[in-house]
Amino acid sequence: SQRRKVDEALSLFTLNQQQLQLVKSRMREGLEAGLKSKGSSVKMLPSFVYHTPDGTEYGKFLALDLGGTNFRAMLVRFKRQKSRLYHKIYTIPLEIMQGTGEELFDHLAQCVCDFLDYMGLKKARLPAGFTFSFPCEQSGVDTGTLVSWTKGFKATDCEGQDVVSMLREAIKRRNEFDLDIVALLNDTVGTMMSCAYEDPQCEIGMIAGTGSNLCYMEQLKNIEKIKEDSGITRTDTEMCINTEWGGLGDDRCLDEIITPYDAEVDIHSVNPGKQRFEKLTSGMYLGEIVRQVLLDLTRRGLLFKGNVTETLKTPGIFETKYLSQIESDRLALLQVRSILQHLGLRGTCDDSIVVKEVCGAVSRRAAQLCGAGMAAVVDKIREDRRLERLSITVGVDGALYKLHPHFSQVLKETVKVMAPQCDVTFLPSEEGSGKGAALIAAVVRQKQEM
Ligand code: BG6
Ligand code: GLC
Repeated sequence: SQRRKVDEALSLFTLNQQQLQLVKSRMREGLEAGLKSKGSSVKMLPSFVYHTPDGTEYGKFLALDLGGTNFRAMLVRFKRQKSRLYHKIYTIPLEIMQGTGEELFDHLAQCVCDFLDYMGLKKARLPAGFTFSFPCEQSGVDTGTLVSWTKGFKATDCEGQDVVSMLREAIKRRNEFDLDIVALLNDTVGTMMSCAYEDPQCEIGMIAGTGSNLCYMEQLKNIEKIKEDSGITRTDTEMCINTEWGGLGDDRCLDEIITPYDAEVDIHSVNPGKQRFEKLTSGMYLGEIVRQVLLDLTRRGLLFKGNVTETLKTPGIFETKYLSQIESDRLALLQVRSILQHLGLRGTCDDSIVVKEVCGAVSRRAAQLCGAGMAAVVDKIREDRRLERLSITVGVDGALYKLHPHFSQVLKETVKVMAPQCDVTFLPSEEGSGKGAALIAAVVRQKQEM
């Protein structure tokens, strides 16, 4: 019957305990391999951040944050355990995301200029932290070369370049203001730092948004690929590692759980074969997986009366926010139907039920996979510290975590089941990773002044 065929398609997204355990151990192997060698699929990038904040940070800093879809400029003031911030959000137009590197960085410089004008700070030459949410190979806290673009960015002439120099040069070209860029960091690191300012148990940062990634505090002695002479002082025992876990599976180690729908999404992406774990777990791709399933079911006559419309063939129609709306339990089916209509998909109430089920299956799997990955990380930390039990906090950000009606719940349940010896608290970041960037800038400044 029709129903059975729909169920069969949905069952491809169900993961049993054994499969989740497999993902957990593959993640663990990925983490270990990445610590040893360069060029691993889980990149394990050193951040040169050795401590979470201790509350003595002070001063006035600029934070720049290039994340998924927006650029944020922010002014942060730290004063006696308190912080104040002012910020402005700028969109990055698609043609700039996919134009030349020079155009992209000129655009960022223009946004910073506007922000400084707005704040009346153009003459100040403030110390700045730059959150750049893409994989960067760093050799110090204030430099890093872009390994490869992710999340649909593809501006030319950036890969292999130092992104801090690119920003400095764009500021110089503009010749209207000056900045002292003292830190470059990933958004996961910024998120961890900003949450650690509130909760000292926070030693992990996670993003479940447009992209998917995690960082955590690792023992220096385990980071084999860092040379001993890279400016580490004797009192340092740990460093934050940006795992870039989205790359898990780029060596095909996840092939057993990848469905034909995932394969289709991958082939049509700007980076086929890359970021395989991210493509199963992050907002940028979940809607596309859903669309591939709907296309298939419609082609097989199981949905929308077999009517394959142009809308259904249009990439990107299902943004994360629609998935979140469709899956909201507070919505009546009639409302789901009207969201679909708004997207240009006309169907019956039965069609709406199927669409909602497809969304549910895809987002549930995403949350479970992140949970399995997280379980690998916390168990590693626990074992490294030779603890029977570990209690730890994860600072977390991203639209999928914050706005999706079920994602965070399923994530937490999965971690509980898969890492039973760890008590993991999730702390949503309040000001995004910008405050973390300012904190790192503050720490660097304090060291320089010492
Ligand atoms: C923001 C952080 O709050 O969350 C960014 O400041 C980060 O650095 C972003 O990239 C992730 O969210 P999303 O959902 O926009 O990818
Ligand atoms: C992508 C980026 C990574 C970032 C994540 C979340 O996975 O490669 O650097 O942290 O998205 O924004």
